[in-house]
Amino acid sequence: MKRRDLLGWAIKAMGATLGGFVLYPLARYLVPPSIPEAVTRRVVAAKKGDVPPGGFKTFPFGAQPGILVHTADDRWLALSAVCTHLGCTVQYKNSDRMIWCACHNGFYDLDGRNVSGPPPRPLERYVVHVEGEDVIVEKAKA
Ligand code: FES
Repeated sequence: MKRRDLLGWAIKAMGATLGGFVLYPLARYLVPPSIPEAVTRRVVAAKKGDVPPGGFKTFPFGAQPGILVHTADDRWLALSAVCTHLGCTVQYKNSDRMIWCACHNGFYDLDGRNVSGPPPRPLERYVVHVEGEDVIVEKAKA
């Protein structure tokens, strides 16, 4: 092997190694890890005294917000608080007895059905249990 060939081979090997040092971390950064998201099925959304009749509260439900509504006639209901249009957080409008998205004036009824505005789908509905002072929200069994 000639000295020139050996030098060329060594430069190519060093280039490939350096390229690997740069490209591997870049690829790891760009491709998300395959760690499954923790599944939350049940949370204590509030204490009974936290939400007066006619009021509401948003609460963390896994990685997403939920909305807990205490209606004026003393019913509890809970839904996903993520608007199905573009993902804004919804709120409860006691004056209209509706769930309202302020981003584009979308409305849902208390069953989570989209009734006016741009939301294309209903909100996911959750099951609510009151156990002592705790208001517990659960995902319905699939
Ligand atoms: S994001 Fe809720 S109506 Fe557009």
